[in-house]
Amino acid sequence: MSELHPSSANRTIRGAKLHDGLLDPAAQLAMVADIRAVARDAPFVTPVTRFRREMSVRMTAAGRFGWVTDRTGYRYEPRHPSGVAWPEIPASVRAVWDAVAPNARPPESCLVNWYAPGARMGMHQDRDEADFDQPVVSISLGDDALFRIGNIARGGPTESVWLRSGDVLVMSGDARLLHHGVDRIAAGTSTLLDGPGRINLTLRVVT
Ligand code: SIN
Ligand code: MN
Repeated sequence: MSELHPSSANRTIRGAKLHDGLLDPAAQLAMVADIRAVARDAPFVTPVTRFRREMSVRMTAAGRFGWVTDRTGYRYEPRHPSGVAWPEIPASVRAVWDAVAPNARPPESCLVNWYAPGARMGMHQDRDEADFDQPVVSISLGDDALFRIGNIARGGPTESVWLRSGDVLVMSGDARLLHHGVDRIAAGTSTLLDGPGRINLTLRVVT
């Protein structure tokens, strides 16, 4: 894998650190191959909320825990709904965590979100983890995404940024519990994947 340059933490947005272009195209391609292998063992599912609404993203995971949601609510689970254990977090993905969060505990979960054109993610907090001193590290692959980030409380002013393939966003410290979401992806802005769409990887410590 090509060398990572963590010093490229080059922008902050409401306290979240954006390492734009941390992954070069070769590293992105290698990571996509690793994620395809994860999805072979732990296929993508369409998550359903406890209100029985289908989410527009499809999800799978790697690591000790995967975040799942179904009619009984959302939670971390040690197994894919099929019963198989989640695959290991690929080394290529783990290397990003080590580069941008060298003092954090090892990641226990890598959520894999697949955004087909038209998929979005509503504003939410990541707060199903036990230790908010540990960061959330998010990797973007494929088409550009319009990411919105706001406040700890619901509502209020927000800022938006286009996340591009190879970008890595770190939410830690005062930014750890900010509401955030993805308004839309810009289909066809990247040629990384076989067609339009976006993969987001979200790494977290769960326990
Ligand atoms: C998430 O917050 O779960 C996903 C964020 C993203 O897709 O960039
Ligand atoms: Mn989130």
